[in-house]
Amino acid sequence: MKYTILTLFPDLIRPWTEESIVQKAIQKGLIEVDIRDIRAYSEDKHKTVDDTPYGGGAGMVMRVDVVVRALEAAGPADERILLSPAGAPFTQRMAEELARKSHLVLLCGRYEGIDARVEHFVTREVSIGDYVLMGGELGALVILEATARLIPGVIKEAESHQQDSFSTGLLDYPHYTRPPEFRGQSVPEILTSGHHAKIAEWRRKQALKRTKERRPDLLEKAELTAKDLVWLEEEST
Ligand SMILES: C[S@@+](CC[C@H](N)C(=O)[O-])C[C@H]1O[C@@H](n2cnc3c(N)ncnc32)[C@H](O)[C@@H]1O
Repeated sequence: MKYTILTLFPDLIRPWTEESIVQKAIQKGLIEVDIRDIRAYSEDKHKTVDDTPYGGGAGMVMRVDVVVRALEAAGPADERILLSPAGAPFTQRMAEELARKSHLVLLCGRYEGIDARVEHFVTREVSIGDYVLMGGELGALVILEATARLIPGVIKEAESHQQDSFSTGLLDYPHYTRPPEFRGQSVPEILTSGHHAKIAEWRRKQALKRTKERRPDLLEKAELTAKDLVWLEEEST
């Protein structure tokens, strides 16, 4: 998978590629991250990338001609994604879909955003949440993190992400490690029983319970078995 990140602040992105799992994935050749400075595509001598908005108002708008030159220079891509608060909400499902592609271009806005005509040059607009950030860089990194970890070989345990929150349509079950006792709180006994079938059952019940308590909206779309429905019924009685 190749990611091309178009930004006015390459130094905000770079450290993310120089640590931890993302760095290892790059070293192993599983992913490639090409960080490009949008300013390099400005053709005037001051390297201007923005201008005042038509119609007046506060703030500056990124110029469509500069941004489109940067997009086109990134070459052919499966997706050209504009980070925008007005985009489709980013979800685990979208991460799964994007992780199957081979080249994503992630376009980060700044200031008041990018001239609206850029919409004709991207394949989709994506929002990482209902709040307004100062730029699209964190959004690009969120997409990078969420998709890269789904690429085979990037994280060690193949099963690990299949159980994650949202992957199963439910929140994840709670995890525990040593010490067995901490300030009066013990690890649930079942987890040290060695009984794998019972542990799996307990985990499924915990995932259902947590989802019901914290994100009941997810239960409406989750794929539930007849057994799950019985457990949920028992929970509410
Ligand atoms: C200050 S914001 C512009 C906000 C814009 N005027 C609005 O109200 O929709 C500058 C840039 O940050 C990025 N951004 C801000 N919030 C975002 C979010 N929730 N999701 C994705 N990108 C976001 C976008 O790239 C945007 O162009």
